[in-house]
Amino acid sequence: MKSFRAKKHIVSVVGAAATVGLLQFAVLTTGYGHGDVTPQAVDVEGLEPTGEEILEENPYRLAGGEQYELAIEIGASGYNQNCARCHGLEAISGGIAPDLRLLEDDMFGDEWYMERVRKGYSQNGAYKMPPFQDLLSQEAMWAIRSYIESRPKP
Ligand code: HEC
Repeated sequence: MKSFRAKKHIVSVVGAAATVGLLQFAVLTTGYGHGDVTPQAVDVEGLEPTGEEILEENPYRLAGGEQYELAIEIGASGYNQNCARCHGLEAISGGIAPDLRLLEDDMFGDEWYMERVRKGYSQNGAYKMPPFQDLLSQEAMWAIRSYIESRPKP
């Protein structure tokens, strides 16, 4: 009888350890599932280099054809990795930040876009939008612009 009890005790200890292990596993996997908020570098291979100077107008829209199509494609993933968490998936704003489909499609829209993306936006010393000038290449910024302007207007 005594030895039976002892065995039972061991079994429940092992059971408890297994439960803790499962819980830890659950916590780890849930933690891993959260979105990565670190800005991501964008691979711009295949796009014409812009040079150092900041351009006033989207060079890929001006180039048209395959360059523009490639820019839109690269811009889509660049946008999803860097902008969607605030400006919404597929550039459809959920209300946290402005709907970027409403930006003007011409050179005025380009200038405003570049200014905001490069410098970000801060209020009372806190960034509401981080500056991207040291995080993204100029090519990547124009590729994202190409993607945004390719989205149908709301
Ligand atoms: C942390 C949240 C956040 C992220 C990430 C973010 N933005 Fe913003 N963005 C904002 C907010 C908030 C504003 C509104 C600032 C203001 O009042 O002008 C804004 C404004 C803008 C504007 C001006 C829009 C307008 O209508 O005047 C542009 C353009 C823009 N963002 C582009 C981008 C792009 C492109 C990315 C990704 C490379 C990006 N943003 C990433 C929060 C964000």
